Amino acid sequence: MTPPVPPARLLVVDDDKGILPVIERVARALGFDVQFRDNGREAIDGLEELDPDVALVDLQMPGLNGLDVLRAMRDADPDCRVILMTGNPTIDTAVQAVQGGALDYLEKPFDFDRLRRLLAGVRDGIERREALLQADASVAQRVEFHGMIGRSPEMQQVFDAITRYAPHVRTVLVTGETGTGKELVAKALHAVGRRHARRFLTVNCSAVVETLFESELFGHVRGAFTGASDTKVGVFEHADGGTLFLDEVGELPLTLQPKLLRAVENGEVQRVGSLDTRKVDVSVIAATNRDLKADAGAGRFRSDLYYRLSIIEIHLPPLRDRREDIPYLTAAFVREFAARVGRPITGVTTAAELLLQRAPWPGNVRELRNVVERACILSDGRMLTDRDLASAMAISGQAAASAPPMLPFDEADDADPNLLSTVQRDQIQRVLLDTGGNKAKAARVLGVSRRSLYRWIERLHLEA
Ligand SMILES: Nc1ncnc2c1ncn2[C@@H]1O[C@H](COP(=O)(O)OP(=O)(O)OP(=O)(O)O)[C@@H](O)[C@H]1O
Ligand SMILES: [Mg+2]
Repeated sequence: MTPPVPPARLLVVDDDKGILPVIERVARALGFDVQFRDNGREAIDGLEELDPDVALVDLQMPGLNGLDVLRAMRDADPDCRVILMTGNPTIDTAVQAVQGGALDYLEKPFDFDRLRRLLAGVRDGIERREALLQADASVAQRVEFHGMIGRSPEMQQVFDAITRYAPHVRTVLVTGETGTGKELVAKALHAVGRRHARRFLTVNCSAVVETLFESELFGHVRGAFTGASDTKVGVFEHADGGTLFLDEVGELPLTLQPKLLRAVENGEVQRVGSLDTRKVDVSVIAATNRDLKADAGAGRFRSDLYYRLSIIEIHLPPLRDRREDIPYLTAAFVREFAARVGRPITGVTTAAELLLQRAPWPGNVRELRNVVERACILSDGRMLTDRDLASAMAISGQAAASAPPMLPFDEADDADPNLLSTVQRDQIQRVLLDTGGNKAKAARVLGVSRRSLYRWIERLHLEA
């Protein structure tokens, strides 16, 4: 549900209060809130509080004139439209007004139709921007994709690649350091692809004894070797019609690689001890945390197999290169483990969040997950503190690193507020405090539109 957005605000600045009633009538009919100041100084000093979307400013006033007010308003809030009014128009001031960034220039006495059209235009512009923002938010990059959490551009690209490739390709190589989520990507590829109703089987190429491996993959016939008392179907045949996930494919014995190539390329497998070739239709997703290309170059991995597997490669960057994912991952893991340990842990403190942001995470997401799990067990409060996390990290051998990175903030974010990190909440609150509650300024500091900031404030139940 979208929280209510405040009505558009019109500020009228004129030393002559007489024009106000008519302007009010026109503006209110268009849904504007109308405010009035009778001199430029008060208008400028009150800008933070008034926070207008559009201002009608008289050009000739005692003290600060309309052009001064225009300049100050443009500086304070470039989003605010300013319309100048004058009873004594000259070409010069008209030019200056437009150069100063005025939306338009109205002559007194007013042409009310023109005023109505101008204000309606401003209102439509605001609504359009609103609609765009909301559309942005609704097609906003998904924070969660088939069990994977990721808000960084890098992870959004991964989600994109999975969506695009899954229906069409039969072989994908997933690369990335340990714990970056390669297995999750494999599962997502299967889930999004056409074979989702069929089997998804996993073989870990490093965990199988070499001599048994061929049989594991391709099966054997009775009597094929000592101990082969029965015919056995290999995983390739077992996964027929579905997906086979070959984890740690870089560990696959060289002697078996030509057979794997044949299975991948031609869909042909041969049970050990049999001369029959069987056809299978299996999608193969291979994963590795090694540099397979280098291995191929050095003769540790067959080049032909490497090229066949790597036609489509999805690479998962290490967590330290996509730190903006950390708050989202943390929130999801806290939720998961709080439920598991049966305690109402709602999040992490700001200090804790900074600690997580700075850590090097050599074990990537898996390590973060383990740290959060341990911290949930250690903690006895509603929030995980930096001490809980430091203890949990000490166990995992993580050193707290130095400089805190920039914290991300994205206005298209329409995420579940429970998923919003305390860092973002604190960040918004701090900026509001620093700017003395000036939302236009705060929005600029945060790099979001004013309207989007209103949404955050409403959604997070913050005090402005
Ligand atoms: N983007 C993510 N969102 C949520 N959980 C994740 C994400 N990436 C990884 N994880 C979690 O981290 C752990 C490790 O993920 P996964 O097993 O997929 O990593 P991997 O790349 O296969 O690691 P390895 O190379 O060590 O096998 C799992 O518990 C997984 O659920
Ligand atoms: Mg893995």
